[in-house]
Amino acid sequence: MAKIDMAKFAKFCKDMGFIYQSSEIYGGINGFWDYGPLGVELKKNIKDAWWLDMVRNPPPGPDGQEIRMVGLDCSIIMNPKVWVASGHVSTFADPTRKCSGCGKFTRADQLWDILRTESEWMDSLLSIDLGAQSVNQVAFTLGWTDFSTLRKWVRNTGPKVAKNLAVVKNPDTILKNFEELFRTGSLIKEDVFRFLATENVQATGLQDPCPACGAPLGEPKQVSLMFESYTGLDKTDDSKVYLRPETAQGIFVNYRNVLDSTRLKLPFGIAQIGKAFRNEVTPRNFTFRSREFEQMEIEFFCHPDESMKWYQYWRDVRKKWYSTLGINSSNLVPREQGKEELAHYSIGTTDIEYMFPFSDEPQELEGVAHRGSFDLTAHAKHSGNDKLNYFDDDRWQGDSAKRSTNSFKEWLKTNPPAEELEKYQFVPHVIEPSAGADRFTLAVLCEAYSEEEVKDAKGNTETRVVMKFHPRLAPIKAAILPLVNKDGMPEKAMALYRSLKPHFNVFYDDKGAVGRRYRRQDEAGTPFCITIDGDTIKDDTVTIRERDSMQQRRIKISDVRGELFEAFLPK
Ligand code: GAP
Repeated sequence: MAKIDMAKFAKFCKDMGFIYQSSEIYGGINGFWDYGPLGVELKKNIKDAWWLDMVRNPPPGPDGQEIRMVGLDCSIIMNPKVWVASGHVSTFADPTRKCSGCGKFTRADQLWDILRTESEWMDSLLSIDLGAQSVNQVAFTLGWTDFSTLRKWVRNTGPKVAKNLAVVKNPDTILKNFEELFRTGSLIKEDVFRFLATENVQATGLQDPCPACGAPLGEPKQVSLMFESYTGLDKTDDSKVYLRPETAQGIFVNYRNVLDSTRLKLPFGIAQIGKAFRNEVTPRNFTFRSREFEQMEIEFFCHPDESMKWYQYWRDVRKKWYSTLGINSSNLVPREQGKEELAHYSIGTTDIEYMFPFSDEPQELEGVAHRGSFDLTAHAKHSGNDKLNYFDDDRWQGDSAKRSTNSFKEWLKTNPPAEELEKYQFVPHVIEPSAGADRFTLAVLCEAYSEEEVKDAKGNTETRVVMKFHPRLAPIKAAILPLVNKDGMPEKAMALYRSLKPHFNVFYDDKGAVGRRYRRQDEAGTPFCITIDGDTIKDDTVTIRERDSMQQRRIKISDVRGELFEAFLPK
């Protein structure tokens, strides 16, 4: 995927009403975002598509059988014991380093990525011309010959962008040592920047610099990502609660409720869409890593013997789902996590990654995890509820001829061997496809954005920005445009608009030249523009313009609704 300038893209998203910075008039707040009028429709369409395609109408299972799936909507704040049992209180943390100069925190495992993409001083250093080679090349190859521009940068720019960088505070000694070491070829890659950030190389060795100010960073420490709050008026340890960091646990703790109230049989899934909160150390890449976001999660419960089959199934189903909604499959990369990456609960996880245009590497869009029996076992243990297992009544009844009693309780008194018992009563295994609604919204925005050279009415070349959303996801489905505001056209157009708006999000626009109105709808990603012109008054036909091809056809006004229904049906 072609790179997009994310700052320019964020501005476009703001100008169009897709995404705004949260509390912008107060300077914003890092890691929080708001969806504008177009963005809220887009994200809602994404969540609706997921709910329809995964909960109400999931594809058939591996043997062609129907998938049983139900939904839930759990509270964000739960009993804090939930998070002790799930392991979040003790292990949900990121390695973090505190800056010795400005005190800011940086994710230790993403330091160099953050330095390369988000650090003002690093960006400025990388862009200075150093004679034969740029610092960029120097940093990642060798062969830097001219140090005078670096000296100039240290004197003029350094104090403005990196006041705590050692070379800025103490230029003479460090530059002298640096030149010497560099010429002997002892500095490679990131060490160039480590050297410039280190006050006393002899005493301290090379130190990692802070992306914000250049001072050395402290040692990595695990910092909890849990957002804390309190219930009631007493703010004590006893009233401490957490904003959920995932929707999954609400599903696990309701497993028995759902089983009892629905009489579902294995295998079955429970799905939930909802907000999650993580106090991310370094929120970044627009909405990609936010502190408040929405998840679309399924916990699929199955017999342990069948779990690998279902793991495979959900990996395939979930990857395919993105392609059916207009994501080019060459931008989607499933990646099996290495053993060392796996979360504490996971036996295996496949990340479905997307080639976001802000990164050279594909980034996680969704994780499909095999969670084994971790969660139900942990909640059974911590809550003392021994009913978080499954009794396979079909199998029990099927084997009745082999036993002297049909009462499970009585049979237990005969001390059956463990493997016999587990045939009938066991803790289900869980496959969890866990997707981010905001992350997918960002992927859809990136994928849809395109600039094209087109001819205007006078034959001049102009740039057309068009959001090529899949029709199901497009925020506005059709624009209704009277060609001119007279001769009965507005009345006809308004009548059509009113007949469509109970069914689709349609937009009425009678302002400006029709060409400009088309362009505005292209930028909003509206798949169809329907124009009411002089012929409409004579023969009740309209033109329907297709966004991507810009082709126009005449159809009967009475056929418009049917054509739109057809275009927006899930396929
Ligand atoms: N229940 C499993 C779980 O929460 P995860 O990989 O931590 O797994 C699942 O999160 C999905 O939630 C991710 O694939 C991503 O789409 C989304 N997500 C996670 N952290 C996020 C963040 N800070 N900002 C936006 N989306 C996030």
